[in-house]
Amino acid sequence: MSMHPDCERIMLTEEQLRARVREVALQVDKDFADKRPLVVGILKGSIIFYADFIRCLSMPVELDFMVVSSYGSGTVSSGKLKIKKDLDKDIKGRDVIIVEDIIDSGFTLANLKALLLERGAASVKIVTLLNKAERREYDIAPDYNCFDIENEFVIGYGLDYDEQYRHLPYIGILKPSVYEK
Ligand code: PRP
Repeated sequence: MSMHPDCERIMLTEEQLRARVREVALQVDKDFADKRPLVVGILKGSIIFYADFIRCLSMPVELDFMVVSSYGSGTVSSGKLKIKKDLDKDIKGRDVIIVEDIIDSGFTLANLKALLLERGAASVKIVTLLNKAERREYDIAPDYNCFDIENEFVIGYGLDYDEQYRHLPYIGILKPSVYEK
């Protein structure tokens, strides 16, 4: 597939994504072998990663989803996490695996993990596709991460700019001319 014209370059190819997602999923599968976790995808960014990740698992899993908005993130007076779509399942006593596309400031996952533990989850582990460690403002780290990346504007494989580019099968770097317009 040719590169989208709004991409400066491809950071992670389909092959690199497939291989690493599989590697991480197999590790999770091993670690949860005797469990029956609830795998929670945080929409929309995680959609493609989530679909690829769960298809590498052989343990029994149940699927659920949340939509959250991190308004206030990155500002001094950061508000609380706003939940736009909540879980369908009661998570009391459950082992929960959160699947996210990217951890940036850490606002979303720090708040989400605290919330799910407050609701009585037995454990909450975090799986991320991308980790921008240098952007971290909240004390949270993924338990499993596929790729550490620099602070670049990344799109594709679920990630958007202004709701565009999520369907690209690779992770690309957006041309600054697109968002500086
Ligand atoms: C993105 C991403 C994480 C969050 C990470 O979501 O999916 O949820 O931002 O940033 P943080 O670590 O600074 O909290 P976004 O709000 O862009 O929604 P989306 O998943 O629908 O793209």
